[in-house]
Amino acid sequence: MQEKQKTGKQTKPTQSSLWTADSLRKIWKDYFIAKNHHFLSSASLLPLDDHTLLFTTAGMVPFKDYFSGRSKPPAPQVASIQKCLRTTDLDCVGKTDRHCSFFEMLGNFSFGSYFKREAIKYAWDFSIECLKLDPKKIYVTIFEEDDEAESIWKEEIGIEKSHISRLGKTDNWWGPAGEQGPCGPCSELYFDRGEDFCKTCNCSNKNKCAPGGDGERFMEYWNLVFNEFYSDSQAQLQPLNHKGIDTGAGLERILALLCNKPSIYETDEFQEIIRAIEEKSKSLRQTKELISYKLSKTKVAFRVISDHLRSTVFSIADGILPSNTGRGYVIRRMIRRSSLYARELEVTMPLLHQLVDVIVKIYGKNYPELITRKENIKSTLLAEENRFLETLDFGLKKWQELLEKYRWKQVLPGKAAFLLYDTYGFPLELTIELAEREKLVLDREEFDHELENQRHRSTNSAKWKDIALPPLEIAKSIFLGYESHQSKAKVLAIIQNGKSIKNIKPKSGNEYDETDENPTIVIIDQSPFYTEGGGQLGDKGQIISEDGAIFSVTDTQKSGDLILHLGHINSGTMTLGTKVKARIDSKRRDELSKNHSATHLLNKVLCDELGDHVLQTGSLVAPNYLRFDFSHSEKIPHTILSNISKKVNVAIKAKTQVKAQVMSIAKARETGAKATFGEKYGQEVRVISIGDNGKFSLELCGGCHVKNTADIAFFHILRETSPGAGNRRIEAITGKYAREYFQEELTQLQTEIKCHNNELAELIKNNPSKKDKITELEFKKVNTDIIALGPFIKDGELSLISTKLENWKEKILNIRKKKIKLMKEISAQILSEAAEKYLSPKAKMLQKIGPLQILILTQDQQDKLEPRLLVEKIKEKSRGIVILLGLRSADKTSLLFSADATAIKYDLNMAQIIKVAAKYIDGNGGGRTDMAQAGGKKDGSLDDALKYAEKEIRKIIETREEVYRKS
Ligand code: SER
Repeated sequence: MQEKQKTGKQTKPTQSSLWTADSLRKIWKDYFIAKNHHFLSSASLLPLDDHTLLFTTAGMVPFKDYFSGRSKPPAPQVASIQKCLRTTDLDCVGKTDRHCSFFEMLGNFSFGSYFKREAIKYAWDFSIECLKLDPKKIYVTIFEEDDEAESIWKEEIGIEKSHISRLGKTDNWWGPAGEQGPCGPCSELYFDRGEDFCKTCNCSNKNKCAPGGDGERFMEYWNLVFNEFYSDSQAQLQPLNHKGIDTGAGLERILALLCNKPSIYETDEFQEIIRAIEEKSKSLRQTKELISYKLSKTKVAFRVISDHLRSTVFSIADGILPSNTGRGYVIRRMIRRSSLYARELEVTMPLLHQLVDVIVKIYGKNYPELITRKENIKSTLLAEENRFLETLDFGLKKWQELLEKYRWKQVLPGKAAFLLYDTYGFPLELTIELAEREKLVLDREEFDHELENQRHRSTNSAKWKDIALPPLEIAKSIFLGYESHQSKAKVLAIIQNGKSIKNIKPKSGNEYDETDENPTIVIIDQSPFYTEGGGQLGDKGQIISEDGAIFSVTDTQKSGDLILHLGHINSGTMTLGTKVKARIDSKRRDELSKNHSATHLLNKVLCDELGDHVLQTGSLVAPNYLRFDFSHSEKIPHTILSNISKKVNVAIKAKTQVKAQVMSIAKARETGAKATFGEKYGQEVRVISIGDNGKFSLELCGGCHVKNTADIAFFHILRETSPGAGNRRIEAITGKYAREYFQEELTQLQTEIKCHNNELAELIKNNPSKKDKITELEFKKVNTDIIALGPFIKDGELSLISTKLENWKEKILNIRKKKIKLMKEISAQILSEAAEKYLSPKAKMLQKIGPLQILILTQDQQDKLEPRLLVEKIKEKSRGIVILLGLRSADKTSLLFSADATAIKYDLNMAQIIKVAAKYIDGNGGGRTDMAQAGGKKDGSLDDALKYAEKEIRKIIETREEVYRKS
């Protein structure tokens, strides 16, 4: 050991100022390529095929299936620089020197190739020879039972015993990432930054100042995981068939060490972002002073904004958009936390979207997806910032009020935090952070209770399909479903509740429930069943054994390269090893294929119509409809939408071939084939081309498609909505479902026309004088046209019917408008006639009271005249009038008193009079001086109420007249 450490001493230390993030990335890549590792570019931040993880949290996440043996790796030794997002310590970000949510993990991996010895040697060699770290300052921790690791470090590397600590499972056992996956003991490398760092972290506790502790002095920079086990869904450890290596070194931390910087935020790329924040915030601030990162007061804000900016920009680029659940909520939380911290830089305007350029400039060359999606990232961030900033001021004001109210109690009630969360959009963690600053503790239980109540109120949340599998010897199932809908096969595994079983038969009297979360899984050697993927739902069908046992497949999912048939046994006994026939539901598959090909056509047309910024952000291909989400910020006008429909239908009418071709990814790129967001592609890819030279679409896809576009029959857009900021969603139908939809539309239209015509007949009966005008509104022609189409429409007629339907609907809308106008005219005339009748001297209904007239009326429910309108009409036709109206219906009595402008000058107050009159009908009333209403019981005496009112009015007028005479 002494010898080797001396060797280290002789090594010339690299000048710290020369290290940059890029030079570190390069040296890492070069070193491992030289050591025979296949270098892979970073996978998405969105873990594919792993619903148990929100984000890619480590370099090994994309390789879980390689470790478990479920998928074949591209090479036995791999290295990568993986973008990662960890959000467990989000609240610490900004407050410490080394916490960040987004980071790049340098990793080298072995899948059954090298193991512990080589992994340790590579780590040491790279640290000393490439990074030129001082070996005397390197410490390691190992798992307490791992004698082998200790011996390698001590005997083969030559590290001193005092530099090795044995720690327990909490510290030196890694994995699984997510609910299940590879795991094993690990060994971590630490760098001693010197005693001075003890001062900054104030760790009075000596134990903390040791490798494995929380102190600042010993910085962990590399973790070597010796994967020996697979932890299943029940956390049972199963030995892995092939041991593997997973190492991870944080780029940001190593860089801080190499540059001799106390904080990762002081390394080159972070400093460039921070400088951009300084400048942008200056331009957005009212006073144009520079607020610098160097000020201790604002350091936290700069760090939070720079870190969260990296996280959100990279996430949005990978299709993780702000929303109210899961991943999207984490992103929303970070954007909102940054907006709040921007206030500390005196910025109240949207800031983050203006910083996208600097992130793209720094990282674009290593992560080209940032360049392609730049505009979309900007618009998504801007929309999200605006959305929060609209309520932030109100929220902060509310927060101040709550603070005043509860500060003395030192407890913030859960209901208050919920109000901020629900009404003002404050993520809970943000409220906790604000509360902590003021030394208030949140009543978390109460908050959770409120949230739970709200969840009950709102609709269903997403349900992940977590499939529990035991370790399996099977490496791969062969998929035959592109060419055929059925195949002969052999049962290789039957799994129930995460355990392998030998056979399965129906539980007598126990009906299978489709919603059962634990269906049985059957794996066969070759299968025509398509596994859910690329938006397309998994196939349904049957697996039938030679002796007649029937297994109904209700869903097909994948795990690594295995095809999992999920379902239940209907009859007989299905046994391991039996020969079977697997048959998919062909009709369902055909509809899926139509919708999948139509989705490709739509994707292409959207780009042509709206622009290159359109990127697929989500897709669902179901048998009965398709749903397509894409990046675009504005609502699509009706005319453009109908153009989009037309263009997709042009491709369908072209009756052109849909071809699938397998080629290398490089060749596919050359052809210009579109790659879908969030998909995982191997070295060999399948390209779907529609039309000559992919004229109508050219896209990478593993899904099922029609042979000719004519099979799709017709494409119809049902609606266009927004699933979240910066995104639009189109839902559409094709084939049989389009036919059924139009059939249904036609039937509905016919019913509507029938009702309309009946209403007209009734109208003619009541208003014979208007017969001609009303008859004009009849739908004779449209109705005969619809009937002429016959009860069953054919695929060939769909296009014509869709156009006709649109015309008819427009016609109906116009005629409805005309009908409403006519009905208004008729009722105005009826009211007018009725008013004139009441006011006519012949009717003798008007009584004189001094200078005024009074009209007392009673109506019952048979009278169809709307009382208020009638009263208004009467007032229109006379001057100085008071109307007292009594109304009786089956279950109540009511009063409506009204006086015109002249009448109220005589001190008449209808509201006051009705209050007393209401007592005669056992009710209550009120209103304005000129118009008041009261409601009472059904046997209330309307006569008495009206008599009282009349008497009261007489009294008031007469008294007034008397006073007037006397004066
Ligand atoms: N998976 C381990 C970690 O994330 C090593 O890469 O620390």
